[in-house]
Amino acid sequence: MQIIIVENKEKVSLEAFNIVKNIILKNNQAVLGLATGSTPIGLYKLLIDSFKKEQLSFKDVTTCNLDEYVGLDRNHPQCYYHFMKEHLFDHIDISLENTFIPNGMAEDLEKECKHYEDVLNQHQVDVQILGVGSNGHIGFNEPMTPFDSITHVIELAQQTREDNARFFDAIEDVPTHAITMGISSILRAKKIILMATSEYKAQAIQQMIEGPVDLKCPASILQTHPDVVVIVDKDAARMLGNG
Ligand code: GLP
Repeated sequence: MQIIIVENKEKVSLEAFNIVKNIILKNNQAVLGLATGSTPIGLYKLLIDSFKKEQLSFKDVTTCNLDEYVGLDRNHPQCYYHFMKEHLFDHIDISLENTFIPNGMAEDLEKECKHYEDVLNQHQVDVQILGVGSNGHIGFNEPMTPFDSITHVIELAQQTREDNARFFDAIEDVPTHAITMGISSILRAKKIILMATSEYKAQAIQQMIEGPVDLKCPASILQTHPDVVVIVDKDAARMLGNG
């Protein structure tokens, strides 16, 4: 694991942007694994800026998102399909048919999971963007999710629903389930960038980097991947190196 600690969240976004930009410049058909949540929004803004300045094109880029809530209509402002359009896809030259997000409204969710895993098998991710939950989840792989899991339906942890309640009117409105890439699906990416900011993530970051590889902290499995870059601000790195 390469650990990069920077001053603030703007610099976290910039470090991640420089890596992603170089991957797209080297390979205009790159496959990006994308994440939602507040953490990658700054990275997406930089990608949009660079498209507008004609430095980057996404015309032949493919994207695969990590996860989607179950039961939110694609027009729901908090569904991840809507999030991706709002924060990235609507502002760049990507072809929507090259963007993949699990369908959380599918009638047969098991079939949708199999279908999504097939999509991932057909598109090896060149660089996977990850945030991390305060409980150490990656994608929506909550603590105790098996490390060999593939795309599946997961019941969200109470902690996750509480953390994400800020985006909804009330905690009761936060979906109880999601479809998520599994941990082994995530680990198939050639390169992984995990971004985290704020003191709220400090414990998860400490366990992920310095703790044992343990199901209780799903992100700790990243210690076993050959090419992971962790980019954190000072606050998220606060508990590192304390023994
Ligand atoms: C969400 C997403 C994760 C994300 C995490 C952190 O629930 N499923 O992919 O990394 O929680 O979110 P945030 O960046 O808003 O802190």
